[in-house]
Amino acid sequence: MRQLSTPLAVNNPIAPDWRHLAFKWPAELPAPLPGQFFTFLPKMVESEAGIVLRRPIAFAGFERASDGGLAHAIYQVRGPATRALSAMEPDDVLDIIAPLGNSFPLPDEEQHALIAGGGIGLGPVLFLADTLEKLGRPWTLVLGFRSAERIPWNGHFKSAILPAWQHLMNQAVITTDDGSHGLRGTVADALDLSPLLTRPVHLYACGPSAMLATLASLAVRWNLPAHFSAEQWMACGVGACHGCVLPASTGGYVRVCADGPVFDSRAITWEACL
Ligand code: FES
Repeated sequence: MRQLSTPLAVNNPIAPDWRHLAFKWPAELPAPLPGQFFTFLPKMVESEAGIVLRRPIAFAGFERASDGGLAHAIYQVRGPATRALSAMEPDDVLDIIAPLGNSFPLPDEEQHALIAGGGIGLGPVLFLADTLEKLGRPWTLVLGFRSAERIPWNGHFKSAILPAWQHLMNQAVITTDDGSHGLRGTVADALDLSPLLTRPVHLYACGPSAMLATLASLAVRWNLPAHFSAEQWMACGVGACHGCVLPASTGGYVRVCADGPVFDSRAITWEACL
């Protein structure tokens, strides 16, 4: 983990309120892994901004190069901090601390990776699927959206993306709540019908708490090994403030930033997070 100032390379819209961010990665830092995240310090200019805290964003991909490489992320513009981030231009300098948190464990040799993502959980699951693809390991990606217009890379945003993501999206099973694209329903609905559940699989997920709670029940019902990445509000991002805790199933709490963000699905009482 290190604090650094690094130039932005990409900050493009990929869907309404969604951006693809990429920034230079120093050669001396270990490459980020799927599940890990960084925090950025927003340059606030809005009068209502209040106290400025670092904000976490999960890595969504990494491209190694001789000078270090490019780290990629996907974020939603939904408050003053992300609005400030979305106003930054290529070559503007971003203040980050990275890499933070743990990562998804790889599936066992005989296991097929069943990877589910929804909403703000899109970045980590794309990164995991891309990593497994490069390792030659089998994976299936199931992505859920509210409607067709919320799917990144539909229509005119298509030219703004990382080629690896388009390859992954082309192979993904897509669900929408309103049935306007792919299967009607949720990722849990699609997974419950999957013939893969009768084979050795390892379930991975990142997304809203309601989705993770449903998938945790599915993992218990099908007796699947499962690891989920939690998305949580953070203050310090490094384990000091306890502002990011989730209820542990054994009692007490775990810190998402320092103990996670990836947890065995059985370690968290997801229903209590709703
Ligand atoms: S954000 Fe401070 S302990 Fe996690």
